[in-house]
Amino acid sequence: MTNIKTNSPKLAKKLNFFKSAGSFAMLVKATALEAKGKRIIHLESGQPDFPTPKHIVSAAVDAMHDGKTKYTPPLGILPLRTAIANNLSKKFQVKVEANNIAITPSGKTAIFAALSAVIEPGDEIIYPNPGFPVYETMIQYLGGKPMPVPITSKNNFSFDMEIFRKKFSSKTKLIILNSPSNPTGGIIPKSDLQIIARMVRDSKCWVMTDEIYDNIVYDDNYQSFYSLDHVRDRTFLVNGFSKTYSMTGWRIGYLAAPNGIMEKMDYLLTHIVGCTASFTQYAAMTAIEGSMSEPNHMVKEFKRRRDYFVGALNEIPGIHCSLPQGAFYAWPNIKSFKKSSSWMADYLLKEAGVATLPGSDFGKWGEGYLRLSFATSMENLEQAIKLIKKALAKI
Ligand SMILES: Cc1ncc(COP(=O)(O)O)c(C=O)c1O
Repeated sequence: MTNIKTNSPKLAKKLNFFKSAGSFAMLVKATALEAKGKRIIHLESGQPDFPTPKHIVSAAVDAMHDGKTKYTPPLGILPLRTAIANNLSKKFQVKVEANNIAITPSGKTAIFAALSAVIEPGDEIIYPNPGFPVYETMIQYLGGKPMPVPITSKNNFSFDMEIFRKKFSSKTKLIILNSPSNPTGGIIPKSDLQIIARMVRDSKCWVMTDEIYDNIVYDDNYQSFYSLDHVRDRTFLVNGFSKTYSMTGWRIGYLAAPNGIMEKMDYLLTHIVGCTASFTQYAAMTAIEGSMSEPNHMVKEFKRRRDYFVGALNEIPGIHCSLPQGAFYAWPNIKSFKKSSSWMADYLLKEAGVATLPGSDFGKWGEGYLRLSFATSMENLEQAIKLIKKALAKI
């Protein structure tokens, strides 16, 4: 008889690089408690709590009625690529053309496309830690060598430039930047962007700058790496509609890439996705060309919540929280409780009924922190503060 065990088909080992994402894992635990009747305040989610603006929804509905329900070119419809190019050109006072833009079915796909375009086995890739977990997973999946650089409170949650300089070498193939940052809300200062740009200019290295939170900033000193003229010929910009326009479920993002790359991107996207949904592309065109009053109102509201929430967190004994300069996450330091961040997230879920994410989900240097989203109502935030304070007093 055939031995089923030795004869069984094997999965690719690199599938093991994909782990359960923190927010989804926490959602499962929180939902199980809710099913038993416990009330949970959700601060784990990475999405705006506002509805997608009505004029964008209407544009999608109109597009569907208008028969925009078929395949589009893999790089996206030309009017949207042009609208994005014009938007970037105006925003950064630079020359971007439709030819530099690829529409993707999410910011995540844009990240995957950019990384796939440059990473070969053994290439060293510098990226932020704590950082968006997709970076490390994709670097590993593509066979690159992860070279994490800490972003800590000491550097106002930007790269530790001393460690950055040590890790940067002729083997560095790509630097991943994320400003404003998920999970810390930190932004990379202009002076550091200039240093990184100079180092890149003198090397053979690419940059992928993930600026998905670029419209959700609370200070005037934010600068985009993509706005730096002299390195744009080696810079991939990742952005999308999820956060700025509250369109997380629509799945649409984009990649801006240097000249001469789009033909390959076209083939890559042809083979992995075919194209992005047609009617979401028409809706995205309305988003980018339409009124910014709702997205801007959302940012104002996030700022009001940030100011309240971070202030209130800092009044809880044992917690220290810096003021995030962008995105919608508070990143409190909980080291004084001498518990791991995953213990603390589980404890707060069970004891306080507040769902948060452990900092360790975002990498080694995230240990000792929690990520709390303030993309929820003021009432929820006020209630969460009361419950967290009471639960922490018991430790
Ligand atoms: C830093 C960062 N980049 C990219 C994304 C991807 O967003 P989406 O795939 O919804 O466009 C996210 C989503 O959470 C993010 O936090």
